[in-house]
Amino acid sequence: MSNEQGATALAGEDVLGPTGRPLTEFPEPPVLVSHGPARIIAMVNQKGGVGKTTSTINLGAALAEAGRKVLLVDFDPQGALSAGFGTNPHELDVTVYNVLMDRKVDIRDAIIHTDVENIDILPANIDLSAAEVQLVNEVAREQVLASALRKVEDDYDVVLIDCQPSLGLLTVNALTAAHGVIIPLICEFFALRAVALLVETIDKVQDRLNPGLQVDGVLATMYDARTLHGREVLARLVEAFGDKVFETVIKRTIKFADASVAAEPITSYASNHQGAESYRRLAKELIARGGSP
Ligand SMILES: Nc1ncnc2c1ncn2[C@@H]1O[C@H](COP(=O)(O)OP(=O)(O)OP(=O)(O)O)[C@@H](O)[C@H]1O
Ligand SMILES: [Mg+2]
Repeated sequence: MSNEQGATALAGEDVLGPTGRPLTEFPEPPVLVSHGPARIIAMVNQKGGVGKTTSTINLGAALAEAGRKVLLVDFDPQGALSAGFGTNPHELDVTVYNVLMDRKVDIRDAIIHTDVENIDILPANIDLSAAEVQLVNEVAREQVLASALRKVEDDYDVVLIDCQPSLGLLTVNALTAAHGVIIPLICEFFALRAVALLVETIDKVQDRLNPGLQVDGVLATMYDARTLHGREVLARLVEAFGDKVFETVIKRTIKFADASVAAEPITSYASNHQGAESYRRLAKELIARGGSP
């Protein structure tokens, strides 16, 4: 092979991007002149540690940078999203738990404005772990989050729900409240297996509770382009999900852990880092696909 051919192949790889599709130049998001009603997106994968919370925080931050009013719902009793914005979830009196369980609690009294412009959070703490059991006896138990969010849907452009690693009643509530689902998926073989059950759950929710629910996309996270393993998993993902796989792929980097120690989104903690750029690109891709205003 001549040098010239080698150079073309390399350039070709660059142009094709990690999912094997040509890299798109997504347009700058249009400026919004008015806000709401919000598009609600559930970030779901019942597998733990795949990047749900990291993606909720950083996609949310990138959308907020683009002028979108963003509400992030912490729907995990671990409270990692809440902690990711510097709140101590265990010191909170009113959280999403109280909003779900007590109709007299106004969702606006639980929402916190963060230091990041355009981002509010609905926090959670360990109290939420009781909700799964307590909701079982509620009327329309799958619709409780949806009806709570309805009160603030005109205040935001996007609501992202950070689900816990389970397909239980709380996650079904998130899927029932949502217009779209984003599935963050770590680029490792064993992670692919969990997706079949998740897709089955999404299908059931579409069938019985929320016919309008769409899969907005599958987000490959913690990708390592240097390993054959990572590239193979991504190829399998594209084989299974086709265009549903976001062209934007999130690479593995320690900067995300650093940012969460600093309790900041990566877009402000390390604004020029490629991790921040990736989530900005994801925000543009989501908007271009119609997944967010
Ligand atoms: N792209 C990445 N590169 C390297 N580390 C990452 C990346 N994304 C997330 N992490 C780290 O991986 C760990 C798990 O991420 P995260 O908490 O976002 O996953 P999760 O799906 O929300 O987990 P859980 O199911 O427990 O809620 C965290 O320590 C986070 O900092
Ligand atoms: Mg999480």
